[in-house]
Amino acid sequence: MINNTVRFLFKNNVVSIENIDPNITVLQYLREIQFSTGSKEGCASGDCGACTVVVAELDSDNTGQLHYKSINSCITFVGNLHGKQLITVEDLKENNNLHHAQQALVDNHGSQCGFCTPGFVMSSFALHKHNQTPSRGEVLEALAGNLCRCTGYRSIIEAAITSSVGSDEDSFAKHYQETVATLTELQKLPAPSLAGDGHQYISPLTIDELAYELTVEPESTLVAGGTDLALSVTQNLATINKLVYVGNVDELMNIEETESEIVIGSALPYSKFIDTLHHYYPDLGDMIERIGSKQIRNTGTLGGNIGNASPIGDMPPALIALGATMTLHLNGVERTILVEDYFVDYKKTVLKPSEFIKSIQIPKPAVGQTLKLYKISKRIDDDISAVLAAFFIEESAQKITTVRLAFGGMAATPKRASLAEKALLGSSFTKESVEQAKVALLTDFNPMSDVRASDKYRMKVAQNLIEKCYLELQSHVIETRVVNYA
Ligand code: FES
Ligand code: FES
Repeated sequence: MINNTVRFLFKNNVVSIENIDPNITVLQYLREIQFSTGSKEGCASGDCGACTVVVAELDSDNTGQLHYKSINSCITFVGNLHGKQLITVEDLKENNNLHHAQQALVDNHGSQCGFCTPGFVMSSFALHKHNQTPSRGEVLEALAGNLCRCTGYRSIIEAAITSSVGSDEDSFAKHYQETVATLTELQKLPAPSLAGDGHQYISPLTIDELAYELTVEPESTLVAGGTDLALSVTQNLATINKLVYVGNVDELMNIEETESEIVIGSALPYSKFIDTLHHYYPDLGDMIERIGSKQIRNTGTLGGNIGNASPIGDMPPALIALGATMTLHLNGVERTILVEDYFVDYKKTVLKPSEFIKSIQIPKPAVGQTLKLYKISKRIDDDISAVLAAFFIEESAQKITTVRLAFGGMAATPKRASLAEKALLGSSFTKESVEQAKVALLTDFNPMSDVRASDKYRMKVAQNLIEKCYLELQSHVIETRVVNYA
């Protein structure tokens, strides 16, 4: 059953929207329809954080807890709000008192022109909802997706560190149970949908509903976090005829562990599986912390990162190196393939019309195996890779018995360096075999030049990363990574 409305909680009222073009973003909805202009537009592409708002949603494990997360409202389609509470900077003040996330910025002189301030406030608010005594590192992580061009970050960071020490009391805490009850009722409604200006949005609740939607209309566009797709609307001024949102399909929002694998639903945001992956593969956890910003990781998904088949997506090389598999679903029929076999050519994949990615299976590590990951970008946080290298090495009796060297940014698809692998397989990991692998890499790849890096730079850095991996595995004395950026 379909419900031709999207409903969410906003300023203590359930708001119902219909007859709105589903291509509009939450930021446009706030500023142009609600005339709620506290949230700002800087880049309209998820890079500056000026538009940051917070959504509260029920935790997926039905514990009756709310999860508060910061998101970029400029790249979130309005339909994605269904069943959630939307909180903006204008909602924080209680009576005439500023919220402590706001007051701390005043007290620490953390605002000059003020354009970035609503975004910083909301990122800090979201952090303090789950952590009243954040470390400096946690504050930096929470604020890394917010840019300020005039105040300077010291005072803003100080404000966020001290913001709610000793107090989690605010109007949201007081209305907590009421909010849980309202969102619980909204979740019982049939699948929401939206239509306006000849465009449609539908949000199936089950795998079967999703498969049906895609079977009757194979041209539909799947959307999860929309962190990439929404840019086609905000930057290229495209319109999407039919959006099918996958974030309400429970089966796609799971993470589970078997004896040998970690199974991640394709629509689960990064922030929900980062800890698990960090536990098994510390390098992978560290790398995911550098994908986009907190706002992006709160909505961006593994299915999206693989699905759009970008040659510079960060996760595919890591998954290829790990030998991960993915399960694809087409109208009730499922098949499982290696992630490596998913990519055919630039932005081309083996996905058939109406087929979608259901889950990704990552093997758990075994003794003697190592995963090393290297993301090369101009900034540490919130940046796109020029090159991403993922090396999986298994050694036995000082011989390399399995090796997968996967790269992003070096070809039209994420790809293994088969000749470099051959140079290492069966030999010891020595300076000589590393040199041979570096030479083989020249035949494996013919990288391109673009705004992020030249072809020569890409090749040089890829070769050097093999050597860096070798050095790191030989010695724990040589310092090879900058560990403290603050
Ligand atoms: Fe820059 Fe949204 S306006 S991230
Ligand atoms: Fe002006 Fe931050 S106070 S951009």
